[in-house]
Amino acid sequence: MRSLSWALSLIMAVGMGLLILSWYGDELQIQNTLEGQGNVQIGGPFSLTDHTGKPVTEADFTDKPLAIYFGYTFCPDVCPTTLSEMTLWTEELGEDANKLRFVFVTVDPERDDQESLADYVGAFFDDLIGLRGTREQTDAIIKLYKVYAKRVDDGSGDGDYVMDHTASVFLMDKGGDFKGTIAYGEAHDSAVAKLRRLIAGTETL
Ligand code: NI
Repeated sequence: MRSLSWALSLIMAVGMGLLILSWYGDELQIQNTLEGQGNVQIGGPFSLTDHTGKPVTEADFTDKPLAIYFGYTFCPDVCPTTLSEMTLWTEELGEDANKLRFVFVTVDPERDDQESLADYVGAFFDDLIGLRGTREQTDAIIKLYKVYAKRVDDGSGDGDYVMDHTASVFLMDKGGDFKGTIAYGEAHDSAVAKLRRLIAGTETL
């Protein structure tokens, strides 16, 4: 009996492991693709509007390193989870959080108007910057950051939709060069350690 229950526990543990692996598999693949290519070109010039209505370009973000994330305010799970974790990172960094900028770019500007974007970023932490653009401006930055974002009918039959989208946080140095990512669901300590290295200007995150 004992060896049978031991075997069952082992099978369950392996099963759980496989489930978790498949869950994070997509994100890891994105991360490996991004980080496996030493000279991968991520980022570049953009023109958007922030959540206060101020027009901005990449030039407004070159005096501090950047943690930039793409999502949408109607997102049921991945965005609120990531932005909640981001909030905890800023709390852990304390004063040092001011040495970075945290940016949320909507991939769904049709629904995320300036007011809803402002409400949304304000619900997480004060210094979180929301950015949006026209569809063309949005498509341009999505392309520059090699982000996947696709509108998918939610199946309700009333025209509502969700957005499948890349869930990694992109880390850029203050020169605007891509340094690495924080994966969806990455451990808190690992994420904060990367942000500290980004602040310190460490070559490899
Ligand atoms: Ni999302």
